[in-house]
Amino acid sequence: MLDVELRSAQWYAGQSRNAYIHRAWMRRGAPGDAFDRPQIAIANTASDLVPCNRHLSEVAAAVREGVLAAGGTPLEMPVLGLGETQVRPTAMLWRNLAAMEMEEMFRANPVDGLVLLGGCDKTIPSLLMAAASVDLPAVVVPGGPMLTGTFRGVPLGCGTDVWRLSEEVRAGTLSAEQFTRSESAMIRSRGHCNTMGTASTMALVAEALGTVVPGVAGTPAPDSRLLEAAHGTGRLAVEMVAAGRRPSAVLTTASFTNAIVALAAIGGSTNAVVHLLAIAGRLGIDLGLDDFDRIGSRVPVLVDLQPAGRFLMEDLHRAGGLLAVLREVRDLLDPTALTVTGKPLVEYLDDAAIWDAEVIRPRSAPLVAEGGIAVLRGNLAPGGALVKSAAASPHLLRHRGRALVFDSIEDFSARIDDPDLDVDADSVLVLRGCGPKGYPGMPEVSNMPLPKKLLAQGVRDMVRVCDGRMSGTAYGTVVLHVTPEAAAGGPLALVRTGDVIRLDVEARRIDLEVPVHELARRTPSGATVAGFARPRRGWERLYVDHVLQADTGADLDFLVGSSGSEVSRESH
Ligand code: FES
Repeated sequence: MLDVELRSAQWYAGQSRNAYIHRAWMRRGAPGDAFDRPQIAIANTASDLVPCNRHLSEVAAAVREGVLAAGGTPLEMPVLGLGETQVRPTAMLWRNLAAMEMEEMFRANPVDGLVLLGGCDKTIPSLLMAAASVDLPAVVVPGGPMLTGTFRGVPLGCGTDVWRLSEEVRAGTLSAEQFTRSESAMIRSRGHCNTMGTASTMALVAEALGTVVPGVAGTPAPDSRLLEAAHGTGRLAVEMVAAGRRPSAVLTTASFTNAIVALAAIGGSTNAVVHLLAIAGRLGIDLGLDDFDRIGSRVPVLVDLQPAGRFLMEDLHRAGGLLAVLREVRDLLDPTALTVTGKPLVEYLDDAAIWDAEVIRPRSAPLVAEGGIAVLRGNLAPGGALVKSAAASPHLLRHRGRALVFDSIEDFSARIDDPDLDVDADSVLVLRGCGPKGYPGMPEVSNMPLPKKLLAQGVRDMVRVCDGRMSGTAYGTVVLHVTPEAAAGGPLALVRTGDVIRLDVEARRIDLEVPVHELARRTPSGATVAGFARPRRGWERLYVDHVLQADTGADLDFLVGSSGSEVSRESH
């Protein structure tokens, strides 16, 4: 018997009519003492429509065994999962809805602790946002990446190679038939994308935050060690309830520092910035965009994974995983940050080792000497913008060029391959109307495909500027998350085709070379502000009315902060 007062006792303890109702309907074969034990919800984002998470029900079964073995009562709880490749108009529109649904259901139900099963891009962020807001003991089991698939003798990276192969089709160097044949080679097994995309990044960052049992993130989805880890995590969840170890004790300024160091060292996705800001916002932690530059820019990129490098997640796991990476940058970590086990993260680094120095570079021979993500400011992005310099072309990091402006992704798609388009390799492609409000939902469109005629000339990268996001599996010199977005009245709405844009990543600047008096005379583009259509109903309406900008995590204004787990009223 535990020496703590369980939250679930508010439902189950005693002889009252209400306690009778709560127990009787849940009984259905359960032993009488099932209600005296810690009630552990296994929040499962599996669904047939979330292909990267489909296997999580098997993982949930292993968690269930672990919870039972430790004397808890496991309760599998389907929660809203988002299939990145499936949902329209963009999965990011639904991240906050998923987080809100989870938060409310964790609060509404008699649960004492949470095991959070996620994988595909938005699932771990939404689970952590919810867990942070209810502040019940919570631990993540990342679903793990797919195994490496090969096509024509070479490995294919999920996502990254889709962009590469589709560009080859557009350039006429790969047939459409061969392109289609590569589909099942790319998606070879269960699990999430195997590049350093958003899913891999968020799993590793969740471990660096302390919310995953150290050493587990990055275990491939089909690997039996994932089930072993799931079992152990189920046991741990019971222990966490007994110890009262809540997210507010694990997720601290120190753990966000470690997450940012990890994000830079792994060359992780820019999407992690917006997700970490949103999670921090739920905890009242004072984390800003500039912290990513301040902490992350000193950190070398050590992991040679696509899209910035060559290898895939299976290789990273074989080479020693996140702990081996973090051991190399131990001096940059905050040693006070705790993990879900109650021990500091740095305690787990002593036994870590690099087993393949091609995949995980030693500190002395990094892939890129300084951090992956730079935060830019300037008259085009007064609230900030990001560029993932590790995935950009070095020769474009300082660049001046004429803007070629598109008011929406549809406008872009309609015109980009027009043979008469006035564009050259020095042009700066500007895409607006893709921010949180403008699209709405901030889609991953910032890595715009290059004009066909330039591809045919051998051009493989151009400077692109957008108020949307970019897939973590994409690459190129892309300035994204421009804040404020055009639809919120940001200066991006004032840019005209032919204006000169200056990018200087070293100086952390993105500027429009147009005199102030000229900008003051301009009215924002009709398709971005004046023509911005407020959705008529439903979630989109709520979202557009309340979503914050990217520089604070694009959460809803009324979801920032914590609700806690206390719900005192009930209807019986
Ligand atoms: Fe699910 Fe990439 S589409 S992780």
